[in-house]
Amino acid sequence: MDKTPSPTLIRTVVEGFLRQMPLVEAVDAFLADTLLPEQGVDDLFAGTEVDLAVLAVAANQGKLLNLLARAMGASTVLEIGTLVGYSTIWLARGLPIGGRVITLEADPEYAQLARRNVDSAGVGDRVEIRIGPALETLPQLRDATGSPFDLVFVDADKENDVAYVEWALELCRPGALIVIDNIVRFGGVLSPAAAEYDSGARGSREVLKFIGSHARLDGTALQTVGAKGWDGLAFALVTL
Ligand code: SAH
Ligand code: DHB
Ligand code: MG
Repeated sequence: MDKTPSPTLIRTVVEGFLRQMPLVEAVDAFLADTLLPEQGVDDLFAGTEVDLAVLAVAANQGKLLNLLARAMGASTVLEIGTLVGYSTIWLARGLPIGGRVITLEADPEYAQLARRNVDSAGVGDRVEIRIGPALETLPQLRDATGSPFDLVFVDADKENDVAYVEWALELCRPGALIVIDNIVRFGGVLSPAAAEYDSGARGSREVLKFIGSHARLDGTALQTVGAKGWDGLAFALVTL
């Protein structure tokens, strides 16, 4: 049985959480300074009008993606949701020579910034950015790429998370790992009513149910608290 908190309760808890944010952010800064100094790519968001940095993964999360790619020996990575290329750079840096990240972005202006950023980070030669709604570019990918993907990072419009994981299943080799961002959304994942202020929460909830019941997927998920607030990451291994 689900315990479904009311939107009011969720709001109260979130307000309490937000009061702790200075401490939470300080801890994330300590972790990043201690474990990945000089590895962040902080000026990526320079020149963007709004603060897009809140939409990117945190530095320690980017490093997690990088470590996962290296631990798996991944050489072909698919990313859905590029923004300006922050997570893309972390993933690309985890690949061996000849490795490739194909990243999908709907917004041509973000894609242009991402191109600039991956080039100046020195990984431009291993990153291909495909512009357009991912549900339109994914079918082209199936037709064009011979090699199946080792690792997929799903981080675009959460409403389509299930469709993206279905595509990942089609495009991955057995043993591949699918990582999905933003699956907690300040607790919104618990309450379908949360969709009233966060339509993404419904997609996040659906994708977790999808992973939990799919014969080819074995997964887990972690809540995260950090510079990006209270959120979470799901991990699904493609077993066959
Ligand atoms: N992965 C990035 C953050 C991505 S933010 C990082 O961590 O650095 C989500 C991105 O998904 C935005 O850039 C948004 O434009 C893009 N997006 C939204 N809907 C999309 C769609 N249907 N197809 C492709 N990209 C989409
Ligand atoms: C949103 C998207 C993200 O990928 C993220 O990490 C945080 C927020 C959003 O669309 O609200
Ligand atoms: Mg995200």
